[in-house]
Amino acid sequence: MIHQSDTPEQTEALAAGLAQNLRGGECIALDGPLGAGKTQFVRGLLRGLGGRPNAVNSPTYVLLNVYEGGRLPVFHLDAYRVHGADDFEAIGFGELLEQGGIVVVEWAQRIEELLPANRISIVIEPIDERRRQINVIMPG
Ligand SMILES: Nc1ncnc2c1ncn2[C@@H]1O[C@H](COP(=O)(O)OP(=O)(O)OP(=O)(O)O)[C@@H](O)[C@H]1O
Ligand SMILES: [Mg+2]
Repeated sequence: MIHQSDTPEQTEALAAGLAQNLRGGECIALDGPLGAGKTQFVRGLLRGLGGRPNAVNSPTYVLLNVYEGGRLPVFHLDAYRVHGADDFEAIGFGELLEQGGIVVVEWAQRIEELLPANRISIVIEPIDERRRQINVIMPG
């Protein structure tokens, strides 16, 4: 399903709406160029889960942030700086997928071979400074 967002708030609202339907155990793969709004989207997920959106930061250097306090725990990963799938396996990506929380990965294409086939894929394309096309691809 293709959506259009004209503001960061609209991107958050789209993510918050998606969060309502999450049951736990889902993997959300986020793709799109630098500054597309991937982290903004994660803030919306936290908002929708009743967590703290302000706690969300790009885990570019730490690889993993964990947000508790909402309806489901969120494991937020960033594959931008990883040198292949090995780094991700080393931090226990496979185990994270089995925690019953939400695993959300920025730059997911970089570790595509590790992603579960039943992932939710979000592709954000900048159209101009504020407008984004957001493609939400639900599994199977
Ligand atoms: N419609 C929009 N949706 C999302 N963000 C928007 C929108 N319009 C403007 N922005 C701005 O674009 C920036 C998106 O930054 P964000 O950190 O979410 O990008 P990112 O995709 O995570 O980048 P990176 O690859 O560096 O992690 C923010 O400054 C946000 O305010
Ligand atoms: Mg980011």
